[in-house]
Amino acid sequence: MQQHWDQFHAATPADRTGFWEPTPETSLRVVEHAGLAADDLILDAGGGASTFVDSLLERGHTNLAVADISAVALERARERLGERAALVRWLTADLSDASALPEVRDVALWHDRAVLHFLTAAEDREAYSAIVDRVVRPGGYAALAAFSLTGAEACCDLPVRNYDASMLGEVLGPAFELVEAFDHLYINPAGDPRPYVYTLFRRVSA
Ligand SMILES: C[S@@+](CC[C@H](N)C(=O)[O-])C[C@H]1O[C@@H](n2cnc3c(N)ncnc32)[C@H](O)[C@@H]1O
Repeated sequence: MQQHWDQFHAATPADRTGFWEPTPETSLRVVEHAGLAADDLILDAGGGASTFVDSLLERGHTNLAVADISAVALERARERLGERAALVRWLTADLSDASALPEVRDVALWHDRAVLHFLTAAEDREAYSAIVDRVVRPGGYAALAAFSLTGAEACCDLPVRNYDASMLGEVLGPAFELVEAFDHLYINPAGDPRPYVYTLFRRVSA
């Protein structure tokens, strides 16, 4: 799978991908609702070459990590950020491997836009859930955005699993409680509508 994503990112300029956002306004709104301190750790899971981390730096966040299966995608983001890249931890990691991110702990907000929905095998989602469970601190948040039940059934030449808020909650398990959920119609660079569901969960038990 790493090879698939490295090839995808190498072949596709970030702003031509079907998920590009010049500024990820919807994710940023969700982050604001979590009310974090500037030095709380935010981890962009499967962040790839997203501008989410750029926007968080501009808003004064100082404790940021981006994890992705594709080193090529992370390099794209680093190049774009230039000197500011040194302010971020870059982690090449497969989030369908429960042992991933051994160096990470005390995450205040785990952000995933359009990553979990590629984990179509139940065991991969269980591994993802185990990572979230291990790294998100008590009282921390998981902000998950995925193709909704009315959304696309494939992306980047891969099948996806479509979600509503309760299905996302099932992946996270009972330690997480839903804070908010809403539908968002994203229009991709080709002009195609891509319905998403956005959620924010809070960790209510250890
Ligand atoms: C559709 S893109 C979304 C990127 C970014 N979150 C955004 O919103 O622009 C999916 C990203 O997930 C990464 N990815 C796919 N499977 C992954 C896995 N098992 N572990 C970590 N990252 C993965 C891909 O390399 C890609 O960067």
